[in-house]
Amino acid sequence: MRSQILRSVQSVARKSNYTRNYASAASPERKVTILGAAGGIGQSLSMLMKLNPLVSTLSLYDLAGTPGVAADVSHINTRAQVFGYAEDKELGKALEGSDVVIIPAGVPRKPGMTRDDLFKINAGIVKNLCKSVAKYCPNALVNMISNPVNSTVPIASEVFKNAGTYDPKRLFGVTTLDVVRAKTFYATKAGLPVEEVNVPVVGGHAGITILPLFSQAHPQANLSNADIQYLTKRTQDGGTEVVEAKAGKGSATLSMAYAGAIFADACLKGLNGVPDVVECSYVASTVTDLPFFASKVRLGKNGVEEIYGLGTLSQYEQESLEKLKAELKSSIDKGIEFASNE
Ligand code: LMR
Repeated sequence: MRSQILRSVQSVARKSNYTRNYASAASPERKVTILGAAGGIGQSLSMLMKLNPLVSTLSLYDLAGTPGVAADVSHINTRAQVFGYAEDKELGKALEGSDVVIIPAGVPRKPGMTRDDLFKINAGIVKNLCKSVAKYCPNALVNMISNPVNSTVPIASEVFKNAGTYDPKRLFGVTTLDVVRAKTFYATKAGLPVEEVNVPVVGGHAGITILPLFSQAHPQANLSNADIQYLTKRTQDGGTEVVEAKAGKGSATLSMAYAGAIFADACLKGLNGVPDVVECSYVASTVTDLPFFASKVRLGKNGVEEIYGLGTLSQYEQESLEKLKAELKSSIDKGIEFASNE
């Protein structure tokens, strides 16, 4: 039974391209730090990053609880050396020398809340953490998971600007869960093997700002307009679906950890010089007239190497794009204003 499970995990990992054969004895030393490692997303993410052979040092930080999480995952017989850090005073040590910093810290939604309702608490948390990132590892790639991502990424950019360390190529909002959901829902509706499906998702990471481009999905399925509208709405409401199902016990943790691990793995591959690593991410962008926008991004040794345009959109996607801009702009402005009011 155990070996059956192991074989199936290995086969899923191979098919999803996760860590595929890119690690070897010659793999460079890479330190990955998770800020918020003892939380709902943080613990699963810690385990998934411990399974990633591209990671040589895994640094787990949270206000409390990280010694236990670190001790636990450190027993997994993979390459990464694990260190746990707790309390403010250890944050610097946790961050020093990091190549990639993943930030899932903060509070999750309860039913009836939007991601923007988390702004009051999470904005301050992200701002303080980013000040330390600027101080202790200004060259790290920052993967922002804390919500509302549409605002926390602009907050981080302002903090880094104030510290004189801002490099737009190194700051990412993790929107991978939207892609993961779009692939799952599309494959199910179209009756396609999910591991062969790809769907770009652009815009932002909240409600109607999440715009899956099913007209560019691979392989193309013959779906009706009603199907496409249903799939779009389900992808946009995916986070809320989980919040409601958890009924007050938080939001997506397992699928978000999976998505965060996929994106961090792509960042590490890019840093290591693996060619053609492309993921959707919410980055500083000129693809639209908004200063931050999620679209397909090629990752490389410096972080963002290339941001791809939106390609040809269906009429429905074009209209949805126009509709999302006002909400996304106001979330961006809110983040920038918050961070500039010191
Ligand atoms: C998600 O997409 O599941 C996360 O952003 C969490 C949330 O509040 O929806």
